[in-house]
Amino acid sequence: MRLFYAIFVPPELRPPLEEAQRRLKGFRNWKPTPPEQLHLTLMFLGEVPRGRLDEAVQVGAVVARRVAPFTLHLGGTGYFPPDGTPRVWFVKAEGAGLEPLAAGLREALPDLGDPKPFKAHITLARRKGPAPRVGPVVFDLEFGVGEITLVQSELSKQGSRYRVLQRFELKGREE
Ligand code: 2AM
Repeated sequence: MRLFYAIFVPPELRPPLEEAQRRLKGFRNWKPTPPEQLHLTLMFLGEVPRGRLDEAVQVGAVVARRVAPFTLHLGGTGYFPPDGTPRVWFVKAEGAGLEPLAAGLREALPDLGDPKPFKAHITLARRKGPAPRVGPVVFDLEFGVGEITLVQSELSKQGSRYRVLQRFELKGREE
């Protein structure tokens, strides 16, 4: 099963992101992330044997227990890769809990995932073929993060379908 840990954008924060996505209108090859799927990936585990699901649930709970609720700030947009042909259009995210969560998950599951360094972002759209870059958007948005989720991604011709398997409350002490 294809798994990742994520923070989802709450419904009230979706409209400004959807407004930015409207800049892509008319460019068939930019596929905007459906609003209910807008999320920040803390760790992508990749394909995990079903027998390790319990371990992934345990790890989510242990790491979330250590980190305090925090505020996530959304800033400007950017592209991956930053130069050359873009694959992903994203908005940068910052927040005190992000590094501890991302690092804690990687330390607990060292044999899973992707060795690339963590870059906190929310994917607004993926580019599937020739399409131009759109100009930058600078957001000044924030929301409170009180939980993280373990998500299963099912790939299909219509795109990915996300199923939230478990939610983990952040239970660290706030400073
Ligand atoms: P992305 O939004 O930057 O593409 C589910 O696929 C989530 O895991 C996506 O948010 C995706 O991030 C992230 N992810 C990270 N590494 C990935 C990889 N190697 N393959 C697929 N998804 C990956």
